[in-house]
Amino acid sequence: MSDPTFKIETPRLLISYLQPDLDSHCDFLVALYNTPEFIANNGKTSVTTRDIARRQLEGRFRAEHARNGYGTYLFSLRNPANPDDLASATPIGTVSLMRGDEPGSYTAPDLGFAILSEYMKKGFTKEAAQGLMEYVERVQGVKDILGLHDPANKASGAVFRSLGFVDVGLRQLLVFGPDVVGQVWIKKGMSEDVSVYGLPKEAPATVEMPEKIVEDGVTESVGAVAV
Ligand SMILES: CC(C)(COP(=O)(O)OP(=O)(O)OC[C@H]1O[C@@H](n2cnc3c(N)ncnc32)[C@H](O)[C@@H]1OP(=O)(O)O)[C@@H](O)C(=O)NCCC(=O)NCCS
Repeated sequence: MSDPTFKIETPRLLISYLQPDLDSHCDFLVALYNTPEFIANNGKTSVTTRDIARRQLEGRFRAEHARNGYGTYLFSLRNPANPDDLASATPIGTVSLMRGDEPGSYTAPDLGFAILSEYMKKGFTKEAAQGLMEYVERVQGVKDILGLHDPANKASGAVFRSLGFVDVGLRQLLVFGPDVVGQVWIKKGMSEDVSVYGLPKEAPATVEMPEKIVEDGVTESVGAVAV
């Protein structure tokens, strides 16, 4: 995650690494994690200041990239006057591929995303997700990708549907806590028997509302784990 020149190009966006040493990236993360939509779907975050954001980027974000070769990425609107220039592109969202290494972790990464309110519903998140998925398949051979989210998060479900993912229903998601039930999607072409990826084969008999969980001082839910 340390190469400041790394970028994945899509028609309107540049996808790059978040840089802990850039104040603008730290401030962007604070803004992104504190939009009304983010808080409504993922709960309040502890990422409320530039310094806390910097510690997250240096810690958890960097560790994930080092472990898996992928993690959370920034996506920015290209500057029309200089479309290939990362420094003058406007940060608008994040797209991520996350895979845990704890016992019981799923064998495929899950796709997550978040975008600033003023840029929603313009297809930017879909474009960033497509760009990242194409890149990791081509360069790293990552074909299997899960979608996991709070069933109440209709926007998340709409993005996965628009990306062509297949809805396999609700599953207990023990990785995120004993009582967490999430909506599970698979990328087209994956096995609909999700037990091959370490998820339960069937939906739980009784469905309870997913609970918010807290990890590393960050309030998280199924949805937040995927951003
Ligand atoms: C989820 C989120 C990232 C969607 O971002 P977005 O940029 O608005 O999504 P896109 O514009 O790329 O839309 C992709 C598809 O989803 C649909 N969609 C997006 N938001 C929607 C909503 N609130 N309700 C219904 N459909 C929605 C779009 O209409 C589009 O469908 P189409 O391709 O069939 O026309 C955004 O709402 C967000 O940041 N939410 C807060 C953070 C969060 O909950 N992240 C998800 C955790 S898993």
